[in-house]
Amino acid sequence: MKDELKDISTLLFETYGADVSRYDDSFLEMSVAKRQSVTGCYSVRDYHNHLKNTKSEADSFVDSLTISFSEFFRNPLTYAYIEQMVLPLLIEQKKQENNKEIRIWSAACASGQEAYSIAMLWDEVSLAAKSTIACRIFATDSNTEEIATAQKGIYQRATLQKTTLHRVQTYFNRRNDIFSIVPELKQQVDFSTFNLLDAQLVSPQASIYGDFDVIFCCNLLFYYKPEFRNLILDKISHNLKADGFLITGETEREIVKENNYREVFVNSAIFKRIVNPKG
Ligand SMILES: C[S@@+](CC[C@H](N)C(=O)[O-])C[C@H]1O[C@@H](n2cnc3c(N)ncnc32)[C@H](O)[C@@H]1O
Repeated sequence: MKDELKDISTLLFETYGADVSRYDDSFLEMSVAKRQSVTGCYSVRDYHNHLKNTKSEADSFVDSLTISFSEFFRNPLTYAYIEQMVLPLLIEQKKQENNKEIRIWSAACASGQEAYSIAMLWDEVSLAAKSTIACRIFATDSNTEEIATAQKGIYQRATLQKTTLHRVQTYFNRRNDIFSIVPELKQQVDFSTFNLLDAQLVSPQASIYGDFDVIFCCNLLFYYKPEFRNLILDKISHNLKADGFLITGETEREIVKENNYREVFVNSAIFKRIVNPKG
């Protein structure tokens, strides 16, 4: 970590009790640059001095590290693969195993767009396949406010830019520019709070035992330093079936490739674990 960044991290901890040591250096640098431009500080040193004297700026800086942006069908290519390859494959596999349940976990679901996108796909794919297999979707986030918003299932138009008109008409009730998830789809998702870095908890309690066929861990790994990314990936691996699928954000593909996962379809951000990396 650069000295100036280290000084900011130390100042935040010693003066305001805010621990930012888990965040990746490049993410912290980017966040400092953004706040510098908002506050008109020319150098990192100026910003450090500004922080020293302004508690409200320390709060704003820490808040700026909590990025919960999400949208429906965020990475369209990934969702196309899930719709056309992953879900049909799982249905077939479960049929052959005479297993009646598919288990999916959205592990940093923010305000629910990812989990509801999966529920929409499942509804369409299972209907087309005339499948009687059930799909249980668990969705968790460390932020309780995000989970409360997800449970309400009420969204602004901006989050729907990648959602087809057919899906908007089928899965939302619309009032002016406010779109509410229909009750049937809401029931499909079980939302709860879960911190992926909580050393005490192995799996989301609602799911009881983990053992997921698909885990979404999208757009959170890159915020963290490598040692924390590894802790999160260990937790994910522990909860993923041996032949299960891990879905990441587009920018996190290289991170998981370095951690014994192989990408199943080109540029899809859909991975399987390499069970015996050295074998
Ligand atoms: C940018 S959002 C990603 C939302 C969604 N997965 C997507 O890709 O659109 C990142 C989310 O990760 C959550 N998060 C950050 N650290 C976490 C942790 N240790 N455990 C669980 N969730 C975490 C944040 O609260 C935030 O809602």
